[in-house]
Amino acid sequence: MTQDEMKKAAGWAALKYVERDTIVGVGTGSTVNHFIDALATIKDDIQGAVSSSEASTAKLKQLGIEVFDLNNVADIAVYVDGADEINDRMDMIKGGGAALTREKIVAAVAKKFICIVDNTKEVSILGDFPLPVEVIPMARSYVARELVKLGGDPEYRQGVITDNGNVILDVHNMKILDPKVMETKINAIVGVVTNGLFANRGADILLVGTPEGVKTVTA
Ligand code: A5P
Repeated sequence: MTQDEMKKAAGWAALKYVERDTIVGVGTGSTVNHFIDALATIKDDIQGAVSSSEASTAKLKQLGIEVFDLNNVADIAVYVDGADEINDRMDMIKGGGAALTREKIVAAVAKKFICIVDNTKEVSILGDFPLPVEVIPMARSYVARELVKLGGDPEYRQGVITDNGNVILDVHNMKILDPKVMETKINAIVGVVTNGLFANRGADILLVGTPEGVKTVTA
């Protein structure tokens, strides 16, 4: 089974958590793209979606799913998104696709976070995947110096501007033993918009695509 087939299996498995006649929170990435394909098959049973990126918005609209502005939505029952790494406490690193800030905002509103991954994303300690940090452009060098003080090795993601007009620093060589504390520390650096640790608000349900089928883990 290929990695993409495992992503697809996880994406389609998330469909059963979607509540009828609600607005669904939709993340970003190649795994979520499979979920959007699945969601399109029940588009008449949902009100629509709130999206975490311009890329997901375009795909949702192309498949005929209405996309709402989060400011006009009172609540979101379920948010479905992928991850770059997830540990057994359901803490995640996200932002490989540079959509971390909008993802974190939609996740904060949602009652339930369903994380969909293939089995290469499961880790015991977060940090092998470089941690994305979204930064206001003029603060880039200052934030990089502060991240070095926290033990990381930041690298400017060349040529990438986020949907919010900011830049990304990818922080290498971090062994993140306490994700909640690290998430809070990085967010406290002036000039940081947000970082890709989703620990203070982790996943509630994890669906992992494996060669043996989709494994479900509940927080
Ligand atoms: C987007 O910014 C990310 O948070 C994605 O959710 C994450 O990178 C997973 O992407 P894939 O599903 O493409 O692996």
